[in-house]
Amino acid sequence: MSLWATKSISVLRAEADAVGERSLRRHLGVLNLITLGIGAIIGAGIFVLTGQAAALYAGPAVPLSFILTGIACAFAGLCYAEMASAVPVAGSAYTYSYATMGEFVAWIIGWDLVLEYAMGAATVGVGWSGHFLSLLDFLGIHVPAKLTQAPFDFCTQGEFAAKVAGCTQAGWFGTGAYVNLPAIFIVALMSYVLVVGIKQSATVNNVIVITKVTIVLAVIVFGLQYVNPDNWKPFIPPNTGEWGTYGWSGVLRGASLIFFAYIGFDAVSTAAQEARNPQKDMPIGILGSLAVCTLLYVLMSATLTGLVSYKELNVSAPVALAVSRIPQLNWLRPFIDVGAVMGLASVILVMLLGQSRVFYSMSRDGLLGAWAGKVHPNFRTPYLSTIYTGFGVAFFTGLFPIRILGQLVNIGTLLAFVLVCFGVWILRHKRPDLDRPFRTPFVPIVPILGIATCLALMGFLPMDTWIRLFVWLVIGFGIYFGYSRKHSVLQRELAGLGGTR
Ligand code: ALA
Repeated sequence: MSLWATKSISVLRAEADAVGERSLRRHLGVLNLITLGIGAIIGAGIFVLTGQAAALYAGPAVPLSFILTGIACAFAGLCYAEMASAVPVAGSAYTYSYATMGEFVAWIIGWDLVLEYAMGAATVGVGWSGHFLSLLDFLGIHVPAKLTQAPFDFCTQGEFAAKVAGCTQAGWFGTGAYVNLPAIFIVALMSYVLVVGIKQSATVNNVIVITKVTIVLAVIVFGLQYVNPDNWKPFIPPNTGEWGTYGWSGVLRGASLIFFAYIGFDAVSTAAQEARNPQKDMPIGILGSLAVCTLLYVLMSATLTGLVSYKELNVSAPVALAVSRIPQLNWLRPFIDVGAVMGLASVILVMLLGQSRVFYSMSRDGLLGAWAGKVHPNFRTPYLSTIYTGFGVAFFTGLFPIRILGQLVNIGTLLAFVLVCFGVWILRHKRPDLDRPFRTPFVPIVPILGIATCLALMGFLPMDTWIRLFVWLVIGFGIYFGYSRKHSVLQRELAGLGGTR
């Protein structure tokens, strides 16, 4: 049995096109794919993390951090675009790795994508809960704190010593709250929409995207008129003496933090089997959504740091804070709350969609149980995979705080990006003849730059995060050798045992 056995691309394509009880409905056109990307991208990153990145690390130069991360994502995005057009099958990085680097790497990446999609959804669920409560507060409705917060928390000695917010002691401790009910509610609601149909999901996503992009544009258009250019001076404040706080090192550290804001453009590729014309439209969906969001992010972050001093922005709702400082912009406040609530909801929707499609693909290959591959006879969605994912994500989002949930999302996603860039490079050698409706330019330079920039962003993440990633992967190895390898359809075929797809 070979750990490195690859799945043939023609088999993958044939499976995706086969009509049967496991086939999904091809409904998504190019516009839906772009809005799916924007739905997943614009969320907590711009509405929450920008303030932290400006106040603590980059100062008014935070748009530079956005540009740098945007460039890193563009390298990876170009590689995703080639893969999604050459292997237009559900499962994204997992499937690409299976076709290029073999089953073991595919398993690692499938397992790793749980950190991006499921953990990402759980993280954004908690963020959604916070914004939703602030909106309710604005409307005069107050929900008891015990029902809106995580009952468990964990702080390291270092976090406790540094008096990180919420760290009242080191180690695991109870917070006195029962559960984060709004976070569970939104995950359940989005899971329901996903079960009911890809068409319905796309419609909900489109409505949300139109609303949130309009609100982001309103902040930019109206906000730019009240910018005080003095707030942008000095553009890169001098380094405080500590690496990563202002100066160029701060711009880089800010870039690694706001990487979270870009996560999601790759989720478009998980829906390849539900696209009408994936070979042509996938690259446009991936690169189009990335381009639109980069532009909006740069303009939005420049507006924020122009409206108020960057020093004031380290709050949970920096956009609302910035407009509330300008009396003429105060009318925008409730819209910003609505934009954040809507925006984060669509991120959860697309992340859950991504996760359920990855599980669906892993099940098709025998690496996960048959349940994950079951498609609903009427809705034509992988409903069991969606429901179980919803339960898992609801569990985490309801019980743990955002600080814990968010820790692995960036590193997990960056690892997936690195492997997809490798995949493009490898596939060019292995299958130079393969038809590629979209070709990444300047191979291997672009994949190498993608690998290097993503590894660099990973390098800026704390050691703790690396250790947790390692532990997560070791658990994954255990499941692979204990279960998946024995049930793998490909391994059974190689061993002449036959397999069922
Ligand atoms: N990019 C998504 C967000 O910022 C994950 O919420």
